[in-house]
Amino acid sequence: MLFDPYANSALRLANRIAMAPMTRCRADHRDAVPNDLIVEYYRQRASAGLIISEGVPVSDRARGYLNTPALWNEDQAAGWKKVTDAVHAAGGTMFAQIWHCGRVAHAALVEFASQPRIGLHRRSNRRPRKP
Ligand SMILES: Cc1cc2nc3c(=O)[nH]c(=O)nc-3n(C[C@H](O)[C@H](O)[C@H](O)COP(=O)(O)O)c2cc1C
Repeated sequence: MLFDPYANSALRLANRIAMAPMTRCRADHRDAVPNDLIVEYYRQRASAGLIISEGVPVSDRARGYLNTPALWNEDQAAGWKKVTDAVHAAGGTMFAQIWHCGRVAHAALVEFASQPRIGLHRRSNRRPRKP
């Protein structure tokens, strides 16, 4: 059963094994482009029917950790294309887990040290009212 193929209207998977997203922090933080090491990491695991990528920040300000490969510009997209090409060539299927780190994001990790946007979370930072 685990090794049987799976198909629905959108997906055809070689088997029913899925790899959970795991942040590996192996990119260069300055450009956050997926590199050869990351291509190799996912290629080696492509025998899983479905790979969910590590959390992938969708903007500079979405970053919560050092060295996470990202996806907000063309260079990064081209880097991920090398990853998915390698996974597809090895018979695997892969989804990106897109990510905004919210309050985990830190000014030290983003360009110009701008404060991360925390939006609606701000309310929950207020002190409770005194009775
Ligand atoms: C090194 C490491 C990195 C992880 N990175 C992510 C991540 O980027 N995104 C995510 O949703 N979960 C992440 N996780 C959580 C795993 O996906 C989770 O451990 C896995 O789904 C198994 O679930 P369990 O720990 O509840 O058994 C990470 C776990 C580990 C050990």
